[in-house]
Amino acid sequence: MTSVTIAGYGDDLSVNGIRIGDLTPAEHESIENEKGGQNYAPLENVVVSTVKDSSTLIVRRPHPDDVKKYIETELIDGLCCYSAVNQGQLNQTIVDAVVKHITEEKLPTVPRSIRHKYMSAFLLAATGITEMDKVVPKVAGVESWELTFKISRRWGYHKKGIPDNECIIVGATGNFHGRSVAAVSMSDDPDSKDGFGPFVPGIELVPYNDYDALEALFEKKGEKIASFIVEPIQGEAGVIVPDQDYFPKVSELCKKHNVLLAMDEVQTGFGRTGANFAHQLLGVKPDLMGCGKAAGGGILPVSFVAGRKDVIDVLTPGSEGSTFGGYPLASVVGTYAIKVLVDEKLAENAKLQGKRLIDNMNAIKEEYPDKVKEVRGRGLLTAFEMYDEPHLDGHKVSVNLLNHGVYAKETHHSTVRLAPALTINETQIDTLSDAIRSVVKGL
Ligand SMILES: Cc1ncc(COP(=O)(O)O)c(C=O)c1O
Repeated sequence: MTSVTIAGYGDDLSVNGIRIGDLTPAEHESIENEKGGQNYAPLENVVVSTVKDSSTLIVRRPHPDDVKKYIETELIDGLCCYSAVNQGQLNQTIVDAVVKHITEEKLPTVPRSIRHKYMSAFLLAATGITEMDKVVPKVAGVESWELTFKISRRWGYHKKGIPDNECIIVGATGNFHGRSVAAVSMSDDPDSKDGFGPFVPGIELVPYNDYDALEALFEKKGEKIASFIVEPIQGEAGVIVPDQDYFPKVSELCKKHNVLLAMDEVQTGFGRTGANFAHQLLGVKPDLMGCGKAAGGGILPVSFVAGRKDVIDVLTPGSEGSTFGGYPLASVVGTYAIKVLVDEKLAENAKLQGKRLIDNMNAIKEEYPDKVKEVRGRGLLTAFEMYDEPHLDGHKVSVNLLNHGVYAKETHHSTVRLAPALTINETQIDTLSDAIRSVVKGL
């Protein structure tokens, strides 16, 4: 009989006698290579171990003199799990809520086929913060997008009267909505699609931030279009901020053609851009909005779709569901993730510290005008783009930033995104900026 022996916690956690705390970065890498799928290329020679404070990680790196040992150093978390940890690593309020509900409140685990009392708390909090009529909980960010897609199609057939199986959903070039088959069907990134076809039909793409292209498509095929699903600011594409008049015009166009405006705020939501939700900065209100990442405070995967009552109401029992979407622990974490967003004024701090970070990066751009081409961002969703030359390599910048105590990651060859926790302070912003300056100087 096969048996696996597991014991201990933290560094003492051991599996079949292998103690995790004894493994060097090279050994972690070889276990991942041997036992895991190679669908990520993690930054070399660094293994995250613990949290020091809301914006600082403790990481292990190879010992310079002894391959069997490692050393520990601090890293400012400039990425915060792709904006899933807006509330800061191990936010105390959320951690306390989890511990209290599990140990004292005897929190159950039940599915949605029986009512539990925490669902009401989550729905009240989530409709309150989003200022939307209704909310449907899911788990991963991509699931909120999938549900937005499904609701759009059903609304298209049931409410707009699109003939059966002829519905079109419009997306934008450069989009990122996740990795499911439907989401990559909308993607124009060949790496995400290669070998995964056939893809979901009924999707059309228009260039992002190009009103005329959208208008032309709506004029041609508007009767069959149910929704335009779009990121208010494109994150994975390299923090692409649209023109200020783009979305107000898009919103009017959608109304004219009876097309839903659906926004993917998985990355831009929860205070990231200096408003609770990025659409509030852009002067529009979507009919549907998907949220994820920081909706679970970095503690649990929590996502949801929020929207207009008449749109969400196309869902009927049996048409949609998720075992862990809105289960009691997710409902508690989701409710407290919202409490922290409000009580700790995260959007305000993102606005303040984001301005400081962007000012600092613009100063670096002025110092190195031959290297830094553009600084972009809103709130603490920021990036700097370098000129497209071999030595101005985003991956090299990410690796060099590690050596200067900062974790950030390129989004494309020459663009590096910085999206630290919204709890970050001025000193940490300046330390992070100084690291960028040193790395850019050395390129
Ligand atoms: C805009 C957007 N939508 C959806 C997703 C997918 O979220 P998840 O990885 O949690 O499925 C992401 C992830 O980066 C994202 O940035």
